[in-house]
Amino acid sequence: MYSYNCAIVQLQVKIMIIAIAAIKGGVGKTTLTFCIAATLAQMGKKVLCVDLDHQGDLSAALGVEKDASSPNIGQVLFAPKREQSDLFAQAIIKVSGGVDLITPGINLGAYQSEIEKGLASESRLKDALDQFNVTYKTYDYILLDTPKGEGLFTKNALVASDSVIVPVQTEYFSLKNIPELLNLVSEIADRANPNLVVSMIVPNRMKSTSLHKSIYEQLTEWDVRSYLSHQEAPAWVAPPIRDLTVYAELSAQGQSLYTYSGSKAEHRAPFIEIAEHLELSKTSEIKCEVETVG
Ligand SMILES: Nc1ncnc2c1ncn2[C@@H]1O[C@H](COP(=O)(O)OP(=O)(O)OP(=O)(O)O)[C@@H](O)[C@H]1O
Ligand SMILES: [Mg+2]
Repeated sequence: MYSYNCAIVQLQVKIMIIAIAAIKGGVGKTTLTFCIAATLAQMGKKVLCVDLDHQGDLSAALGVEKDASSPNIGQVLFAPKREQSDLFAQAIIKVSGGVDLITPGINLGAYQSEIEKGLASESRLKDALDQFNVTYKTYDYILLDTPKGEGLFTKNALVASDSVIVPVQTEYFSLKNIPELLNLVSEIADRANPNLVVSMIVPNRMKSTSLHKSIYEQLTEWDVRSYLSHQEAPAWVAPPIRDLTVYAELSAQGQSLYTYSGSKAEHRAPFIEIAEHLELSKTSEIKCEVETVG
C-alpha cells in the first residue's frame, strides 16, 4: 500500500527593494508607487514606501505631511553609516491601509548638497537599507519613489534596489526618454549594483486611440536588453493603466484604490496583475515533495 505526502514549500527570497524611476517628470512614478503599494498591502504584504522627491507627492498621496518623518530621509542619508539603520527605523510612519512611509522633509535639496560633499554619496541609501534589513527584517517590499532627473536621490534609489519599474506614457515622444534611464541603469550595474535589472515597464495613461495602441505595441516589442548587456531576462510589460481621472483623484484626496468610493474593480485590475507578477518573481522556489511510503 502506498500513501503520498505532497508538501508545497514556498521559499521567499529576501526583501524586494524596487525603484520606480523614469528620469522624465510627470509620467506616473508616484501614482504607480502608491497604487502598487496599496495593492501589495491589500494582499497582506508588509510594504514600506520611501519618498525620495522633495516635492513630497507620495507623502501627500498617502495623506501625510512631507515633514512628518523625524528624522526625514535627508537626515538618514546624511548621518554616519553606523547610525543610519536605526535612524531609518525611527523615520518610519505608519499610514492607514497597511503601507508604511518615510517622508522627504522640507529641505531635501540642502541635504543633497551636503551629502554630495562627502564620500560614497550615491550609496547612502544602500548602506542604510543593508543594515536595516538585517536588523529589523520587517518588510516584504520596499518601494522607492524617485524624483525626475538623474540626480543624487535617483542614483541612490538605483544603487539600493534589486529592480526598477519604469512607467512610460503611451505618447509620441515618451519612448525617446527610456534610453536615458537605461543608460543610467547600465552604468550603475557596471559600477555599483551588478544585479540591478529593469524588471517591468508599465504603460501609463493609455487612451483608446490608434496612436496609443501603436505605442503600446512598440513597447511590447521593445527589448531593454539592447541597452542592458548585463540583464538576462527581458522586462515584463504590464497591462496598460488607462488615462482616467480616478487615478488623479486618489492622490488629490489622499485615498487608496481600496478606500476611494470612485475606485472600481476595473481600476484595480492592472495593479493586481502587477502585484501578482511581483509575488511570482519573488517566489524563488516551489517544491513538491512526494514521499512514497511502502
Ligand atoms: N493613469 C492616469 N490617469 C490619469 N491621470 C494620471 C494617471 N497617472 C498619473 N496621472 C496624473 O498625472 C500627473 C503626474 O503623475 P505622477 O505625479 O504620478 O507622475 P510623476 O512621474 O511622479 O511626476 P514627478 O516627476 O513630478 O514626480 C498627476 O497629476 C497624476 O494624478
Ligand atoms: Mg512623483
